[in-house]
Amino acid sequence: MTSKKTALVTGAARGIGKATALELARRGFDVAVADIVSPSHGMAALADFAGLAGRAIYIRGDISRPEDRAALVDQLRAEFGRLDLLVNNAGIAPRKRLDLLEATEESFDEVLAVNLKGPYFLTQLAARWMVELTKTLRDYHPRIVNISSMSAYTSSPARGEYCVSKAGVSMMTKLYADRLAEFGIAVYEIRPGIIHTDMTAPVREKYDKLIAEGLTPIRRWGEPHDIALAVGAIADGCLPFSTGEVINVDGGFHLRRL
Ligand code: NAI
Repeated sequence: MTSKKTALVTGAARGIGKATALELARRGFDVAVADIVSPSHGMAALADFAGLAGRAIYIRGDISRPEDRAALVDQLRAEFGRLDLLVNNAGIAPRKRLDLLEATEESFDEVLAVNLKGPYFLTQLAARWMVELTKTLRDYHPRIVNISSMSAYTSSPARGEYCVSKAGVSMMTKLYADRLAEFGIAVYEIRPGIIHTDMTAPVREKYDKLIAEGLTPIRRWGEPHDIALAVGAIADGCLPFSTGEVINVDGGFHLRRL
């Protein structure tokens, strides 16, 4: 078993997940980069971790599949032997933005399986292991971070299934925070705003315009590193008396303004 702290970040081959995994490795965590992309793609992502304080490994899997979630945790047990931080980051947008009155059950099932069911049951597996580890490890402060979205509370009728999935992630955060507090496991939700990644590439011009017009008090796109820094603060134990807490990283989007 490694004596270093370890983290599992899902969807970490690119975007917010990769920035987060890099930040954690910079802070000394050994990191499992978990993603659905091919091993060669995943290994290519690892090149950026060279020279950082923590080492990184790539584990391929689809978090919506129970057998992949189990294999992911088994591999982590074998490679690292401990888990200090789980970051549920992997998520997808609907393949097609369709109005609420036209959207399909197929898309609903796909988005909910990746964005909610996957993290819900991956957290169950990770939490059971963390509870077990609390019995043997000393100075062990396990934590779980769920990356939701401002869509958890903002209506976008052209991607209802995404909004519902993220609202579910918010409730999941409360549930696990409540259940795991007795074991000293804290659970947090980070709600990104509009972040500059491949996911938002198809709507870049739309958001450029909205941001320039003042949609967010802080008039810029968020960068993946903005989210990574918030996860880093949690990972470093900066919020020891909080659990179930929501951290908005959204340039102030959530403020009601008049
Ligand atoms: P992205 O699309 O750039 O990266 C997502 C990563 O997750 C990819 O590497 C992808 O291969 C992986 N992934 C997708 N399905 C997977 C599966 N079934 N199993 C394992 N890995 C899978 O997305 P981005 O922008 O980095 O988003 C990360 C998270 O942040 C998502 O949960 C997203 O909903 C959330 N978010 C993003 C915002 C944005 O503006 N980009 C805003 C609010 C929330």
